[in-house]
This record gives sequence, structure tokens and C-alpha cells, in this order.
Amino acid sequence: MQTLILVIVLALISQLVGKPALKEKSTLRLLHVLFRHGNRNPEETSMWSSNSFSNASNYPEGWGQLTNKGKMTEYKLGQFYRERYDQFLGDTWNIDYVDFRCDNYDRTKMSGELVMAGLWPPRGANVWNKGLAWQPIPFEYVPLNKDPLLYPIVSVQFQFDFALTFLSGKIQSHLAKKYGEAMKILSQNTGCSATNYAIGSAYYDTMMVQEDLGFKLDSWTTQVYPEPLKSLAVDIFYVMTNNTVLRKKMAGSLLKKVITDTYSLIHGTLSPPTRKMFVYSAHDTNVGSMYLSLQAYKMDQPPPYGSSFIFEVHEIEGVWGLKLFLVDYTKGSPHSLTIPGCEEFCPIDEFYSLVDDILPLD
Ligand SMILES: *[C@@H]1O[C@H](CO)[C@@H](O)[C@H](O)[C@H]1NC(C)=O
Ligand SMILES: *[C@@H]1O[C@H](CO)[C@@H](O)[C@H](O)[C@H]1NC(C)=O
Repeated sequence: MQTLILVIVLALISQLVGKPALKEKSTLRLLHVLFRHGNRNPEETSMWSSNSFSNASNYPEGWGQLTNKGKMTEYKLGQFYRERYDQFLGDTWNIDYVDFRCDNYDRTKMSGELVMAGLWPPRGANVWNKGLAWQPIPFEYVPLNKDPLLYPIVSVQFQFDFALTFLSGKIQSHLAKKYGEAMKILSQNTGCSATNYAIGSAYYDTMMVQEDLGFKLDSWTTQVYPEPLKSLAVDIFYVMTNNTVLRKKMAGSLLKKVITDTYSLIHGTLSPPTRKMFVYSAHDTNVGSMYLSLQAYKMDQPPPYGSSFIFEVHEIEGVWGLKLFLVDYTKGSPHSLTIPGCEEFCPIDEFYSLVDDILPLD
């Protein structure tokens, strides 16, 4: 009898404990989400002629395009957003709810569409074709050379050269010491320049992409892949965000937009006022340079396919602020991030003053 009562009491308690989440009023007011595209084919510009799979015929979708695996990665990311933000976003899509931008790359546009497919399956008034659980969602993009928001770099090579002009010879000798041997092997086998670290990083991507596609890498690559080329790829991210000038260039414009849009909401000037979400479909360079510029996370690998950086805008007891999350679909649940000098919930005025030095003026 006593056990039965205990069981009933426990059941009641667990019900009560389970409930508050529903009753508690959500403090979420706006979302800014940035993500990397899905798994892709190699880029033609990052291919060397002696590579066993250098022929375009190995890549049915074309150079640099999303693969079927990549489509699933992005679709699942959309489903993750839907699950996490279902109540906040509501059932039906409306043009005013979502501001959705990609840069002018096929793979970021397709990835964005796939995320939207997972995020906004038609419900209620949006159902238009009972045989198809999908609805079209519009997006915007501008030419790459006019896109400081999502394409601050012309290429990794350009950005790396740009970075070096701002950095001491110390970093170059640091790279030479750490990767000189690997670059020599790379140069002997691919014909690239042995001092071109940006190419080293790009060729690391190509090997990773080919491995992801299930291709057997040429045997010489075991000398450099995954290490030390993986560490080189990580170091390139650190070089590209090594000081405030570089952070301003790599992440500043998008960060400034996030802050500006957040203040517009707070001041009641956001247009349209019912906006719930800003969506940015871009690259590993965007995601990685964002968290490195904010000094919010230690990079141990370049941001994987479908990884995402989320700025949640909350209003908690009258205080407006941001909560930051990094989502890596390979690792499951979102990872809460903090920037130096602030807490997990960072009041917007504090956040602004902490990152002010990396915001561009115009
Ligand atoms: C690439 O493969 C196609 C189809 O197998 C073939 O016709 C073509 O000659 C190949 N190109 C090179 C450069 O090997
Ligand atoms: C600058 O780059 C070097 C080389 O990758 C790295 O060791 C260092 O931590 C970076 N510094 C900052 C502040 O990012």
C-alpha cells in the first residue's frame, strides 16, 4: 500500500515537474541563425591533376554542388530548428516572419531551401498540394563582390594574403615550422607551391570531401591527411581572425546587422514588426569566423557541414539580451556559448559594448 502511494505521489510530482515548461511564458523574441551548407563535391579550383578522382564524371551533381547526403544534412537542420522553435514560430509561414538570405553560391541557396523544407512543412492554411509536404519560400542574394554580410572574402587565398599583410612575420614562421614538411609533401605530389598555406587548407577540404564521398584517397595522402593538414585548416581560421581589423572584416558586418536588427525590435522599429527570424545560409568561414571573432569557442576542427550559429534574442524580466548557441549536427544538442566578459544571457547593451571594436563603421 505504502509503495503504491509512493508511486502515485512520484507520478504526480513528475507530472508537475514536467509541466512548468509549458506554463512558463517564453522569453524568446527573435532569432538570427547562420549555418553552413551541406556535404558537397570538391571544387574544381581545389583539384590537382594527379588526383585519382580528378575527372568531373566522378561528381554527378557537378563541382562544388551538394550531394544527396548534404541535402539530408540541411533538411535535418531545418527539422532541428522546427523542433526547437515550434511554439515560437507557429504553424503557418507568412512572408513577414522570415528574412532569408544566401550568398551567391549554388550550395548555399540549395542548402537554404532544404533547411526551409525541414523548418516550414506546410501546415493548415499553407497546405497547397496534399501529395507534397513542401512549400516554396523565397530568399534573397546579392553578387558575391557586393556581399560583405555573407561573403566578406573573395577567396580563402585572398583573405589569407590579406591577413598576412596585417600580421607579423612571426605567424608565417610559426606556420612554416609547423607545416613546412607537410607542405613539401603536398607540393611534390600535387605541384602546388610549398609555401601556399591557403592551398594546403583547400586541399585538406578536397581530401575530406573525397573521403566523405567514399573515395579511396591516394596512398601518399596518409603522410599529411588528416594531420597535420587538419590543424593547418584550423590555423588558417585563427589567422583570418587574428586581430580586430580582420575580425571586423570577417564577421563584423553580419554581427552589426544582428545587433542593429535586435535594437530595432527593442525600440519597436523593426519592419515588419512581426519578424520572427533572420536566416543566413553560408559557409564554414562564416560560422567559424563568427565564433572565433567573438572569442566564444575554441576551434578544434573547421565547422562541419550543417553546423549553425544561433543568436536568440530574449527579454528576461525586462532586460533584453542575447543567448548564443553553436549547433553541430554531428554532436547533437546545441552548445551554449559565452563571450569573454558576459554571461550565457548577455544583456544587449553589454554585448554591444564588448564587441563594438569589431563592428565596421559603415
Ligand atoms: C573524364 O571521364 C569521361 C567519361 O568517362 C571521359 O570521356 C573523359 O575523357 C575523361 N576526361 C579526362 C580528362 O580524363
Ligand atoms: C593567431 O594565429 C596563430 C597561428 O594560427 C595562432 O596560434 C594564434 O592563437 C592566433 N591568435 C589569435 C588571437 O587568434
